[in-house]
Amino acid sequence: MDSNQLREVFFKFFKSKQHYIVPSAPMVVKNDPTLMFTNAGMNQFKDLFLGNSPVKHPRIANTQKCLRVSGKHNDLEEVGHDTYHHTMFEMLGNWSFGDYFKKEAIYWGIEFLVEILNIPKDRIYATIFEGNSDENLERDEEAYTYWSEVLDKKRILTGSKKDNFWEMGDTGPCGPCSEIHVDLRDDSERKKLDGSELINKNHPLVIEIWNLVFIQYNRKSDGKLESLPNKHVDTGMGFERLCMVVQNKQSNYDTDIFQPLIKQISQIAGIQYGKDESSDIAMRVVADHLRAISFSIADGQIPSNIKAGYVIRRILRRAVRYGYTFLSQSEPFLHNLVEVLAKNMGGAFPELKEQQELIEKVIYEEEIGFLKTLDTGMHLLDQIMTKSQSEIIDGKVAFELYDTYGFPLDLTELILKENNQVVNREEFEQEMKNQKERSRNAAVVETEDWIILKEDNVEEYIGYQRAESDIFITRYRKVKSKGKEYYQLVFNITPFYAESGGQIGDTGYIEADGERISIHDTIKENELTIHITSDLPQKTTEKFHAVVNLDRRNLISNNHTATHLLHHALREVLGSHVEQKGSLVTPDHLRFDFSHFQKITDEEIIKIETIVNKLIRANLQQEARTNITLEEAQESGAIALFGEKYGDLVRTIKFGSSVELCGGIHVKATGQIGFFKIITEGAIASGIRRIEAMTARKAEQYIQEQINLVKEITSQIKGSKDLLQYIRNLVKKNTRLNKRLEAFERDGVKLVMKNLLTKVNRINDMNVIAEEIRIPSAERIKDLAFQLKKEVKDLFLILGAEVDGKANLAIMISDNLVKGKELDARIIIKEVAKEIKGGGGGQPFFATAGGQDPSGIKSAILQAKEIVSKA
Ligand code: SER
Repeated sequence: MDSNQLREVFFKFFKSKQHYIVPSAPMVVKNDPTLMFTNAGMNQFKDLFLGNSPVKHPRIANTQKCLRVSGKHNDLEEVGHDTYHHTMFEMLGNWSFGDYFKKEAIYWGIEFLVEILNIPKDRIYATIFEGNSDENLERDEEAYTYWSEVLDKKRILTGSKKDNFWEMGDTGPCGPCSEIHVDLRDDSERKKLDGSELINKNHPLVIEIWNLVFIQYNRKSDGKLESLPNKHVDTGMGFERLCMVVQNKQSNYDTDIFQPLIKQISQIAGIQYGKDESSDIAMRVVADHLRAISFSIADGQIPSNIKAGYVIRRILRRAVRYGYTFLSQSEPFLHNLVEVLAKNMGGAFPELKEQQELIEKVIYEEEIGFLKTLDTGMHLLDQIMTKSQSEIIDGKVAFELYDTYGFPLDLTELILKENNQVVNREEFEQEMKNQKERSRNAAVVETEDWIILKEDNVEEYIGYQRAESDIFITRYRKVKSKGKEYYQLVFNITPFYAESGGQIGDTGYIEADGERISIHDTIKENELTIHITSDLPQKTTEKFHAVVNLDRRNLISNNHTATHLLHHALREVLGSHVEQKGSLVTPDHLRFDFSHFQKITDEEIIKIETIVNKLIRANLQQEARTNITLEEAQESGAIALFGEKYGDLVRTIKFGSSVELCGGIHVKATGQIGFFKIITEGAIASGIRRIEAMTARKAEQYIQEQINLVKEITSQIKGSKDLLQYIRNLVKKNTRLNKRLEAFERDGVKLVMKNLLTKVNRINDMNVIAEEIRIPSAERIKDLAFQLKKEVKDLFLILGAEVDGKANLAIMISDNLVKGKELDARIIIKEVAKEIKGGGGGQPFFATAGGQDPSGIKSAILQAKEIVSKA
């Protein structure tokens, strides 16, 4: 059975048990500040477990794209070195929300594996939770009873909290779990040692494939467990491992999920897979990481220097580095694998196929960039190796290579080994620890538990119709972050729009009994709308009047509607390949990122603006459709975005022929926007462009400023009528004058040089020239210094000059003196630059400095003379 069939068989089985099949949620998480990536199938259902959202389908089954590279679940270091861990993997799951519990989960689990997939029962083991007295948790007798009804008792083992009590993070829904393990060793091995001895012992052929979690608690921030009102089932089965079992392979990488990629890598590298441990590991790393990166980019996460983007960039760099070191790939090669991946997995995940070109481009650019960095790092390491007298290289240096150039310790060590050198590991580890400590401290957010004031599991949103309303606070909690303390409030109903879909959150206030509390921002955590305040009202249980800052919201809605019109115009002018990749809508401006492979020309910008402004003047009326199915929305022309999670029912916003799936707030009719103007256009990554624009009064102000600028320039050039011609002439004239000036300066330099050659002093076996000169150009002084270096042996030169009212110094030292007398121009210039109230730097043989005080030039020169006379 191939992997694509296996996925379908799983869905079919659970459909027959009345489960509703849902698509995978995006791997990059957007509406949960506690998570960057989906790390388990249950993430998207967190609110259902906690009772924050109503349950529509009590039974669900799915496959979920997961990424485990940060936080509590992080498998990155194992990946490639073993044959069954991955950064990105698929998790097959069946779910019960307050419906069935342990019995069905266990019965169906075994039925699927044994009856449907024909996995022999005598290769299966199940574990149950042994209990934990510190937590006051008992052994899971219930699970044991059901397991013993379907499996030989010898095959049921007990496990500790570490393996048999599942938690998503430090807080949140959790419970005891039963893991299902499979023993894939051959019969003779199995006879020698019973599989039960190898459970959870990192044996590559005795592995966990399925985890049945019985969610019945919520872990609070004080560490206590609270029983949930309903009991739920969350199961997660490693799809890649299941494939290995079903396809009778010894490694996940031998299945049809990875083999096409491994084959392609092996072909590119000209190295056979299975012949050498280190190149095998590298091929597995590359195959695994390529999937993780491609799926993330398809979900809209572009590699970058911050947050989720940085995590992706690091995974990508890890793959490049393994390719570089172990597969001799010093040119970009990863992007060539995307095609194979899209072909193999594009059926189940169409986002890969549809965005193949974009994924390839983004990966290619990243590869080019990182290979350059690797090169710079290599040169640096070369220098370090030749300079260092010792066999042991400073751990700090190795850490800098790691931190700035992405050189992990093993790569640095590998290179040093060829030169019989090693890194001071202790120092390196210490630096690493310090850095972790720094980032931990910066990232710490202390969130207290919710204080529940009113039981209310659905917070109604009324912001589409109204901007104020009477409300009650249903729960609140205190949050501390970066030394600041604030409160998060949840209401029974809210007119406040929570930041999502690019539109920033509403601000405003709530008021009761003469006490007014400002709402600084509104955010979403899964389905909850959270209002942020600096203070807690004195009487939290009062009825409050909540008021949204309507002026601000109107400006936001102008920009949000303009974003839709812009999207529409972009597709009309540039083509239907344009897809939204990101958006930010604030009261002041809008930002729109989209896929497109060339720079947008000035003519195209004008066309786009013209279309948008025409749609604004047409005063198109808003037509909103709520609670329609995704299919209905798509039929009416709305495009579903990759990386977005859509519920069963969606909302569309239509203005004329612009139709978008959108939960945001819009103008009633486009005329309100008034005017639209693009301010900037540029690339943010390969194949992704960004437009920033303004509307209404802001756009008007921008135009006024531009006109004022032209007026101001015109007034400066009194007398000339044709401004453009005048400026063209000015530029031409300037170029001519510059050329003449340069010629004069060069002649001047020749004269000064002649003069300086007569001023050589023999001091301390050196030919010292130390003079103040009159050349008003730092560039020419540099030329002069280099010419003198050629002319004069054993030279120590210090020149000083005033350039544009500032002091300039330059020191040049012959190479033999740098070595023989251990002179360093950088050190000397730093010292003497104090005289001119400045600083400088350069190389050991040549350094320059600039300073505020030209009156100090003479004494700086004298000081340098003194230093060398003692050298
Ligand atoms: N939440 C469990 C896990 O991730 C089962 O889905 O292992």
